[in-house]
Amino acid sequence: MNNNDNAGKIVAFVNQKGGVGKSTLTTNVAAILGAEHRVLLLDTDSQGSSEDWGVARINKLQSANKLRGFSKHYRGIKKATEVSTDLEEIAGSYDVLIVDTPGRNELVSLGVIAAANLVIIPLTPGNFGFWSSEVTRELIQKVAVARPTDFAARLLLNMRDKRRKVSREAEALLEELEIPVMRSSIGHRNIFEASSDGLSVLEIPARTDSDREGQREMRELVSEISEILGLRGRAQAEGETPRRRSAPKDAPGR
Ligand SMILES: Nc1ncnc2c1ncn2[C@@H]1O[C@H](COP(=O)(O)OP(=O)(O)O)[C@@H](O)[C@H]1O
Ligand SMILES: [Mg+2]
Repeated sequence: MNNNDNAGKIVAFVNQKGGVGKSTLTTNVAAILGAEHRVLLLDTDSQGSSEDWGVARINKLQSANKLRGFSKHYRGIKKATEVSTDLEEIAGSYDVLIVDTPGRNELVSLGVIAAANLVIIPLTPGNFGFWSSEVTRELIQKVAVARPTDFAARLLLNMRDKRRKVSREAEALLEELEIPVMRSSIGHRNIFEASSDGLSVLEIPARTDSDREGQREMRELVSEISEILGLRGRAQAEGETPRRRSAPKDAPGR
């Protein structure tokens, strides 16, 4: 890693279980962080949901001025489904590399975890009994021991549903995983389904209170991620006064 402390951070969304929101969270975080930092979204899932989103995004960014102000530093999407891909080398050219991972391909997930600075494991209320992947958990713990200052893992509650309160059993299970739970959490909200078409929830007009809550939750999540990584620059928190930071050398002048 170089001396620029904003350079080359790798954030990965990992869970061997499909449908927990890895791709949804990856793409939203990439778009929102991309307003502040040089971000590359890396899709390591051969199913390519993030890649599809990235392609839709490029088309939208090119065809509309509506997105002005958003994703100024978003650098696009790359696909890498080979275990041999050197994530650190790719990350060196950006501030943050946001990595989507496959549900099933354990090898790819493990390779990504080994290179990551922050691994976020989305969990949904329906699958607390779920996170059966001992291998992933063990690797996370090993990496945590090997890189005590440059690695963090967090559980993130996604598709939270107030009516289905997290049961005591589920809470006990979470504790057993011995990985801290993020203070941010994301509700089950329609706006996240609408964001699958190349946009982040912040780029879609909020029509309901639930939509607005979803936007607030995403801002909070991005701000918590920035905090964990120690990213410099304007925090995403709502209402915070923008702080100037010198533009990276190769920032687009657009
Ligand atoms: N917070 C949320 N609220 C509502 N729907 C969501 C939320 N997060 C994800 N989804 C939806 O759940 C489905 C699975 O999400 P996805 O990101 O594809 O999961 P994964 O990548 O882990 O397989 C998608 O249809 C997505 O739109
Ligand atoms: Mg996915």
